[in-house]
Amino acid sequence: MITEQKTANGFQYIEIENKSCTAKVALQGGHLFHYQQHGQKPLLWVSSKSHFKEGKAIRGGIPICWPWFGKHSADPTLPQHGFARTSTFELLEVKERDENSTELTLLMLSSAETHTLWPYQFQLLLHITVGQTLSLALTSRNCDTKPFTISSALHSYFAVSEIGDVSVKGLEGKEYWNALTGDCEIQQGSIHIREEVDRVYQQTTDPLQLSDADRSVRISSAGSASAVVWNPWKEKSAKMGDMENDAYRTMLCIETANALQDARTVLPGEEHTLQLRLTAAAVK
Ligand code: BG6
Repeated sequence: MITEQKTANGFQYIEIENKSCTAKVALQGGHLFHYQQHGQKPLLWVSSKSHFKEGKAIRGGIPICWPWFGKHSADPTLPQHGFARTSTFELLEVKERDENSTELTLLMLSSAETHTLWPYQFQLLLHITVGQTLSLALTSRNCDTKPFTISSALHSYFAVSEIGDVSVKGLEGKEYWNALTGDCEIQQGSIHIREEVDRVYQQTTDPLQLSDADRSVRISSAGSASAVVWNPWKEKSAKMGDMENDAYRTMLCIETANALQDARTVLPGEEHTLQLRLTAAAVK
């Protein structure tokens, strides 16, 4: 079952409920900001100070960074992480695949407004499937007469029991660009977060595994060969207007990306799909 909802200040979202889970998706940004299997804790972290307001990205859930990830390479005055996360998507279709699984299709089209930020004709299609697992597929179609290059991310904010409990496996031996120092380094062993971390891992091949005291989450991807790991830690959390001071203790971003060397060029009439599937299991 899906219902159309609005927050007190008129921010529109869709609420989904089936036999497996509940989920919420905002039309702004096609932004899934809640996913919870019945009897489990929410999988995704959302800031209690997040704005649910037009033109401001929700702090948490899975924002879509598109058509560029991070700062625009040529013009730093353009919005960080592109414009998809603050653009309105249209809900095209809802399918109840079975009693456990619901699929939403959302669409964003190029317009005169997007043209001023990024001069291409495109269709951006988002499929979200919520059930015993959570899947997202983001398809970028080039409807222009010239090729375009996109960098992007499904910027998942995971809720974790306590940051000190966390480990991330699957990136051992991978090279990463450390955004805090500008250096390239090699990941030694699994990841534990003990300080601010902002890294873009390259040539990722395997599913990742995020574990904390309560559960283990398998993060599988397709159409992606890069992943971002981000935790702002103490000082940055405190400086961000839409995060509680100690928010860094209960969240970790692991983003399924097409970033840096993994940016993708899409030819006229062609498309590229970035996919993510999350499967959570409780630790016994
Ligand atoms: C991460 C970046 O993906 O997003 C970080 O690697 C950035 O550098 C973070 O700080 C949050 O970005 P924003 O624009 O949502 O504040």
